[in-house]
Amino acid sequence: MKTHCPIVVLISGNGSNLQALIDHSLHSNYKVSAVISNRPDAFGLERAKRDGIATAVVDHSQYQDRKEFDLALQNCIDKYQPKLVVLAGFMRLLGADFVRHYAGRLLNIHPSLLPKYPGMHTHQRALDAGDSEHGVSVHFVTEEMDGGPVIAQDRVKILAGDNAASLAEKVLEKEHLLYPKVVSWFAADRLQMRDNQALLDGELLPAGGVQVQP
Ligand code: GAR
Repeated sequence: MKTHCPIVVLISGNGSNLQALIDHSLHSNYKVSAVISNRPDAFGLERAKRDGIATAVVDHSQYQDRKEFDLALQNCIDKYQPKLVVLAGFMRLLGADFVRHYAGRLLNIHPSLLPKYPGMHTHQRALDAGDSEHGVSVHFVTEEMDGGPVIAQDRVKILAGDNAASLAEKVLEKEHLLYPKVVSWFAADRLQMRDNQALLDGELLPAGGVQVQP
């Protein structure tokens, strides 16, 4: 039997995506080797400990600048020798050297239908724009913030009574299904990044990646 693909998950907060990744890993082809947070009080660290997963904190406030922080984070990650690094609600920008070090094996989940709404407050921005749908994207991380090639998206309808909180909740439900699926594609060697484009099973993916069907 093939060994499980080791992944390291980076978090900053609640870690509900981390929990989904852990839960799915029990019946999948990857394993969470470690969880690293830039915030000592991130609840996700408790989730990891509860499941017997190694944890570490690389507190950004303890470093002079981004370069030093990135290097400390990289050293911490590499101790676990992951095949894949998964950003799951990790709220720090990562520098070019860091991103290059993990090129093609660094994923992020973002709560919008990229290229719409990179950055923060995505749910409110979708509401303010009067969009009729919203969603989640999983993408390879490149040097451009939330700008790397999209691997997959899932969407939700925006209904008359929705607000930022209700939308966040609906999108999170989709996130929890989509992220483990994409990670398992990577673990099965089905996913690659080449020339800033995402490939699944050797085929170039279109701009928005694989669209989950309702
Ligand atoms: C998720 O909605 C994730 O997509 C978002 O933060 C939330 C983390 O929730 N990430 C970003 O906005 C990254 N730009 P979680 O800690 O419960 O997984």
